[in-house]
Amino acid sequence: MEKPIIIAMDFDTEESALALLDQLDPQKCRVKIGKELFTLAGPQFVRNVIGRGFDVFLDLKFHDIPNTVARASKVAADLGVWMLNVHASGGRAMMEETRKALAEYGNDKPLLIAVTVLTSLAESDLKEVGVDRSPLQQVSKLAALTRDCGLDGVVCSAAEASDLRAESGSDFILVTPGIRRPEDAMGDQKRVIGPAEAMRLGSSYLVVGRPITRAESPLQALDEFNSAVTGIR
Ligand code: C5P
Repeated sequence: MEKPIIIAMDFDTEESALALLDQLDPQKCRVKIGKELFTLAGPQFVRNVIGRGFDVFLDLKFHDIPNTVARASKVAADLGVWMLNVHASGGRAMMEETRKALAEYGNDKPLLIAVTVLTSLAESDLKEVGVDRSPLQQVSKLAALTRDCGLDGVVCSAAEASDLRAESGSDFILVTPGIRRPEDAMGDQKRVIGPAEAMRLGSSYLVVGRPITRAESPLQALDEFNSAVTGIR
């Protein structure tokens, strides 16, 4: 079975992250390690998680000069991560140089995706940083640039997924957070979507955090998410 669920490991101690991993099955999910846990527990923790058989999406959203991002991405590839990401607004040279650096890893190269526009930014925020178009227009422009630079996909909201799927073709990876079942608490998410619906709209992978990490039985919650998406894509 293709594993579309990526569990967001948003924890503030290594112990709590490991306690969750102890309950999960790497055949049934992948995991995302972001800035908080990485800053806390570091590359050794990433190696530990990979050693337990999990595919790791290293969500550090690199954004720097091309040489720095390409070199940092190679270090992530050396760790053995499955996927990593950069900010598309870092530009063509940054994305192309990083793609070329990772090509050296051949069949072991991690997937490289880009963040387009952070969903926390409204049109007024974009205006303030000199972008005079709507978030959706900017997402579409940066997704097109990402494709053109030969990256594997983008992170996007479910609201953007169907347009991006139509614009990008079937091979482009769309990774979608903000996923909730009807019974799940929203947390701080403002716009959420169900797992099956997100897949129907064109998502390739769903990032799910608290509905699984805070569930009484994370494995049971994961099984429910997997059942909901089975056979849709
Ligand atoms: O707990 P929850 O399911 O809301 O976690 C969602 C995960 O996806 C978090 O790690 C969050 O940082 C990430 N994310 C998001 N919205 C974005 C980009 C990333 O929720 N636009």
